[in-house]
Amino acid sequence: MNEKLNIQRRRLLQFAGIGFAAAAAHPKLLFARGPRVGDRPSANFHPDVEIELKQEVVRIPILQGPRTRVWKIYGKVLKGPEGTVDNITGTYLGPTLHLQKGQKVRIIMRNNLPAESILHWHGLHVPAEMDGNPMYAIGAGESFYYEFEVLNRAGTYWYHAHTHSVTAKQVYSGLAGLLMVSDAEEQALGLPSGEYDVPIVIQDRSFDAQNQLQYSNHMMQRMRGFLGERILINGQPDFVLPVASRAYRLRLLNGSNSRIYKLAWDDGAPITVIGVDGGLLQKPEKYPYVMLAPAQRREIWVDFSDRALGTELTLRSVPFSASMHGGMMGGRRGAMGMMGGGMMRGGMRGMMGGRRGGMMGGGALPLGGEYPVLKIRVARQVRDNDSLPDRLTTIKPLRLRDAANAGNARRITLSMRHMSALLNGRSYRMNDIQPDERIPLNTLQLMEFDNGFHGGMHGMMAMPHPMHLHGEQFQVIKREVNPRSRGQYESVAAGLVDSGWQDTVLVMPGEKVTLLKPFNDYPGLFMYHCHNLEHEDLGMMRDFLIR
Ligand code: C2O
Ligand code: CU
Ligand code: CU
Repeated sequence: MNEKLNIQRRRLLQFAGIGFAAAAAHPKLLFARGPRVGDRPSANFHPDVEIELKQEVVRIPILQGPRTRVWKIYGKVLKGPEGTVDNITGTYLGPTLHLQKGQKVRIIMRNNLPAESILHWHGLHVPAEMDGNPMYAIGAGESFYYEFEVLNRAGTYWYHAHTHSVTAKQVYSGLAGLLMVSDAEEQALGLPSGEYDVPIVIQDRSFDAQNQLQYSNHMMQRMRGFLGERILINGQPDFVLPVASRAYRLRLLNGSNSRIYKLAWDDGAPITVIGVDGGLLQKPEKYPYVMLAPAQRREIWVDFSDRALGTELTLRSVPFSASMHGGMMGGRRGAMGMMGGGMMRGGMRGMMGGRRGGMMGGGALPLGGEYPVLKIRVARQVRDNDSLPDRLTTIKPLRLRDAANAGNARRITLSMRHMSALLNGRSYRMNDIQPDERIPLNTLQLMEFDNGFHGGMHGMMAMPHPMHLHGEQFQVIKREVNPRSRGQYESVAAGLVDSGWQDTVLVMPGEKVTLLKPFNDYPGLFMYHCHNLEHEDLGMMRDFLIR
């Protein structure tokens, strides 16, 4: 109860602090203490599906020996099809939610954690108040009623904590899960389904000797992003996927805080991609390898029908250039300048260098190193199979001439310096909307993420940033690279799947990525941020105000 009071008081203070000028102009605002957003079901919303999600602190068996303390979400269907919620046991991951396009959904989130929290539906196009903006975080013992209609097309979406300045820690502790949307168009395709449609959530974690999750918050880790010492698949260590000799749909989600994967089959076979963040591609596309940055989804098609029983196949992360040496414009000197000589001299090897000087941290699994991610064994022979359709859907390309700002892209510059991670030179502040962050409702916007493409990188730390926009999915229309960063770009370029609808785009050092994004239907605050969760918490996040 005290906590609740504190939260209310804090909100009021935030409101007063941020909106002082606004409050002075409209004194009533300061005293407007109506009901809190999401604190009750609304009388005029008639859900097809009603779900309860309880957040709890529990101890679960993950490794041999002592149980691991995690923050876990448990789901329950209160109304609608039983299959809507699929609780996954033996992992910290929250339940997988199975929704249909067009459904009206109410989700009651109950916070039984010793902390504030809020959940965000990553990739879904929902009203601003239902999007899990950190300003709506609720305290221990409180509930938040989410209500929205599923407008998205079929695809692999997910949900995760989005609590102010502690998103990384909360997601790491377990607050995340998958959210699948299906629709009639997808169902008519006859893609592999049931046990042949397999989600693969890729995350990295570190455990201490007592099997507890380890997460440290020192500045070096926040600048670089957390890198765990082992890879978990669907929340499980040493995961092996037993498959039948037939085709599968594997839905890959990178649920890691900051780790970027460059995925390739160990036998050199190309990867057949059928879907991305916002659902199926127009047609299957083949890649020599696939980049998977935090928050991104890539659905792949794999046919094991010509593999002998017992065959083992591994999806590995293969080397790419993300090193501080190459990554730092101006090389090592730049890094020293930025971090402060003393700290770097003493701590560089331990904190950043890891064992192979050029790689970035991660202990045994440096970013950009080589290591296995997913092991598959052909365990069963079957006769039936599905065939890969040549055409999956129709994707209407967004047109530059329809953009409200076709001649004048909104530029978002990404930068890291002086222990901060910034967007257009700004750090996150709740509800702090600048003139260039106002977007007229129902417009198409041309935007660009500039990660040091336009010069000015002196003394800055150049890192890849997976940039995410809330609200509707967007289309990537162009990538440009500063010649100084060619090497890093080329080490990943052939695996960037830019077709189809996206909500998170990897922006490499020296790169500028241009995209078209619709802002339709819902006014209000929609976030844009780096999905390296340590960067996000460090302030590499802002709001757009759509109106
Ligand atoms: Cu998945 Cu604002 O994030
Ligand atoms: Cu999101
Ligand atoms: Cu970042």
